[in-house]
Amino acid sequence: MDKELVLVIDFGGQYNQLVARRVRENNVYCEIYSYRTPIDQIRAMNPKGIILTGGPASCYEEGAASCDKELFEMGVPVLGLCYGAQLMSLVLGGNVEKAPVREYGHTALKVDTSSPVFDGVKENTTCWMSHNDYISRIAPGFRSIATTDACPYAAIANDAQKLYGFQYHPEVLHTPEGTKMLGNFLYNVCGCAGDWKMDSFVQEQIKLIREKVGSGKVLCALSGGVDSSVAAVLLSKAVGKQLTCVFVDHGLLRKDEGDQVEAVFGPDGPYDLNFIRVNAAERYYVKLAGISEPERKRKIIGEEFIRVFEEEAKKIGRVDFLVQGTIYPDVVESGLGGESAVIKSHHNVGGLPDHVDFKEIIEPLRNLFKDEVRKVGLELGIPDQLVFRQPFPGPGLGIRIIGDVSAEKVKIVQDSDAIYREEIEAAANEYAYEAAGAAGVKIDRANPDHALLRSYWPSWMPDQYFAALTNMRSVGVMGDERTYDFAVALRAVKTVDFMTAESAQIPYEILMKVMNRIINEVRGVNRVLYDLTSKPPGTVELE
Ligand code: XMP
Repeated sequence: MDKELVLVIDFGGQYNQLVARRVRENNVYCEIYSYRTPIDQIRAMNPKGIILTGGPASCYEEGAASCDKELFEMGVPVLGLCYGAQLMSLVLGGNVEKAPVREYGHTALKVDTSSPVFDGVKENTTCWMSHNDYISRIAPGFRSIATTDACPYAAIANDAQKLYGFQYHPEVLHTPEGTKMLGNFLYNVCGCAGDWKMDSFVQEQIKLIREKVGSGKVLCALSGGVDSSVAAVLLSKAVGKQLTCVFVDHGLLRKDEGDQVEAVFGPDGPYDLNFIRVNAAERYYVKLAGISEPERKRKIIGEEFIRVFEEEAKKIGRVDFLVQGTIYPDVVESGLGGESAVIKSHHNVGGLPDHVDFKEIIEPLRNLFKDEVRKVGLELGIPDQLVFRQPFPGPGLGIRIIGDVSAEKVKIVQDSDAIYREEIEAAANEYAYEAAGAAGVKIDRANPDHALLRSYWPSWMPDQYFAALTNMRSVGVMGDERTYDFAVALRAVKTVDFMTAESAQIPYEILMKVMNRIINEVRGVNRVLYDLTSKPPGTVELE
């Protein structure tokens, strides 16, 4: 292989994929391998550099994850992060022990700016610390190149051997100059050229998929969400009509969404694939009639999906491969990722594979984060509106209608939600055109660069927002007539990871406009409520 390769050696830390992602952000290709990978295999890959990740253990303990001393003697530059730095010190003759002061969180860092890894970094900067152990004595040939109040060896260097160690985590955003430090290691120490881009990822995946699939048949469950859409397009570029996508419209999608998915992936769309849309709304409504318990509803929707998909798969006959749009956060959450510990089980992974007869699963996005998946999507020419789609739960509006579901309620929530989204997006875009204009950046209104436009959206812009139907009816008055109609709840949250969230502070006048339009345009609604609850104690969805 002629391309530059950096290896990230996984010692079980939580941030390992983040390290890989920062390397990719520096336009250098990298792959993650377990610390158990034999040294000969590592050498054979001829890496330009090696990064050792953090890990949960103490490196001096019996049985802790370790590495061969030879790793540091191959003449390949090595950067150890946290556990990796400690392990490097220990293996090369330094000492690691329990630190007298445990450091956690934002920590002031003083760096030696003459070091190649701190090129262009401020002498007094900040880093993110998370460690109980520390390097109490550095190995021969090393020197300290950064300190914190509690840590004399916050960064260490053996310039002659090109070995470096950071006690802190440069890969997390809390280390503001972390990406630069990693870039310095890649460019100044490893001598990387940085010519890897997302288009290389796309080309590489297409090649790998072709090799793997050969003349086989591939089946994909397409939801219209970002992940499954990007996976489907990637597969279609690789194997064309060997791919069949099954899109189950369960009647719980947002307004017009089924048609939008069909417009992109159907026969009139730009992609070469077999597209099957199953209009299963009626079937779902029948199954859901009179069911109000949230978990029961979720279960019915999930099971019905498998049933519909199975029926379609049977019609196609034997398939060789099943495509899944699994992305890295799904892998971490289900505890399937490398050496790291389980965090929580995820609601989208699992289910399908047990019910469809196939040989192997293809998950081309397994190592990417959401925004990287979006970049791949843009690279593949998928429409912006799909690439930047809001997260939408698998059970769809089924969990945004409190209590039992009916076609009538679905229509109310679809119409209210469409108005809400239209108004929020219009207000945010208007704000962005003005803010960009004020900053001297011109965005073409007729054909806007959506990514650029989004970068000027106001700070109140929610990360997820939707209308939900409360199961509450209340008395109102409209045109001298008494009404007894539903209350719609507007939900909008700001969140980084969807594990915690705050209610978004949407300007009052926008909410008023939304309220007015919903009351006037959607029959069956006489009250609009704004949900102020954060998560916890609330969840983002209402069920
Ligand atoms: P909660 O309601 O758990 O939502 O605070 C957090 C994020 O996850 C989405 N969500 C789901 N996504 N299947 C999904 O694919 C589900 O069953 C599901 N439940 C919640 C929710 O939209 C939010 O983005």
